[in-house]
Amino acid sequence: MTAPSDASFEPVRDTLGRPLRNLRLSVTDRCNLRCSYCMPEPDYVWLPRSELLTFEELARVVRIFSSLGVDRVRLTGGEPLLRQELPELVRRVAAGPGLRDLALTTNGVLLEALARPLREAGLTRVTVSLDTLRPDRFQALTRRDEHARVLAGIAAVRELGWPGLKLDTVVLRGRNDDELLSLLAFAKEQGAELRFIEYMDVGGATRWRREDVVSRAEMLERISAEHGAVEPLHEEGLPGGVRGRAPAERFRLSDGTTFGIIASTTAPFCRTCDRSRVTADGTWFLCLYARAGLNLRQALRGGASDETIAQLVRLGWKGRTDRGAEQRLALQHREPLADVAELREDPRLEMHTRGG
Ligand code: GTP
Ligand code: 5AD
Ligand code: SF4
Repeated sequence: MTAPSDASFEPVRDTLGRPLRNLRLSVTDRCNLRCSYCMPEPDYVWLPRSELLTFEELARVVRIFSSLGVDRVRLTGGEPLLRQELPELVRRVAAGPGLRDLALTTNGVLLEALARPLREAGLTRVTVSLDTLRPDRFQALTRRDEHARVLAGIAAVRELGWPGLKLDTVVLRGRNDDELLSLLAFAKEQGAELRFIEYMDVGGATRWRREDVVSRAEMLERISAEHGAVEPLHEEGLPGGVRGRAPAERFRLSDGTTFGIIASTTAPFCRTCDRSRVTADGTWFLCLYARAGLNLRQALRGGASDETIAQLVRLGWKGRTDRGAEQRLALQHREPLADVAELREDPRLEMHTRGG
């Protein structure tokens, strides 16, 4: 993987001055779990298989975005490890110019066997979702009996001595919010950094209710009740105390353990958001909450040159005004973003389609 050679390279900026740096690339909309905050319904409408981008097309998308300033790519799903031959895609993407970071967000179920091949293919980092340490709860939260395989996946990453492992926990009131401390201890044992995520009212979270959200403030209170003072870490800060581009704010306990909180529901990071996302069928979204995206597949399959597609993306990003999470925060009455009928009509509204 090579960083852009021209140090003066300036990424394209949107209407709020936010650079295009970070691409989340969904490689499948399918998932082998049914987490209650993401896929609570009994069945789903899937993207047509013929519309899924091929590896060649996905690698081309990354090349085009890199030419505009993207240097961090995260592969997402659905569950990305369900995509056959994923290490081959990693190899192709990692070989392209301009990337500093090629990461993966996975539920971990299929990770045990894939950890080594993914690392060898050039993946730089892995983030595994882990909402509970209790198998019975895992079953209740995900409607699948796969807890042991997730733990085996995490162990496989640790055994490779692969740095940068993160564990993501969506905190749900009354479901797993009594596990904050045990999850912190577990992550420490695994040499991983834990991030607690506020439950978000994204597409697909049809059971979202304000009262089920455990806010960052409340999480910090509970953690400090046990551990004493929690020290905020101010790295990657921008002038004026504005948070850096990562969604997680990081903290340190007195024993040195660090962890993060992603407070997208009560304290969104839209002001510094440098990310956009492409669904597995090549629809480009400027915001997690955006209602509509741009169909890049048509351009990719219609004979457009890389430069023509880059120009589409450049113009799209230049006009970007999105700050979806902030707008949600400003609502008086906050309800799920979309109802089941809308989601069935347009599955691209789903978090599992646009990448968690
Ligand atoms: P790094 O900072 O590179 O480690 O990655 P990340 O934190 O972006 O990756 P990850 O996939 O682990 O994302 C963690 C969580 O952040 C997601 O599950 C979402 O809850 C939230 N998140 C990710 N992308 C967005 C986004 O575009 N907008 C908002 N509001 N939240 C996001
Ligand atoms: N709220 C917060 N995070 C969510 N994710 C999916 N749905 C939600 C939601 N409603 C994120 C979680 C999970 C990742 C795959 O997607 O972080 O770990
Ligand atoms: Fe970025 Fe939109 Fe998420 Fe805000 S809501 S952080 S603008 S993707």
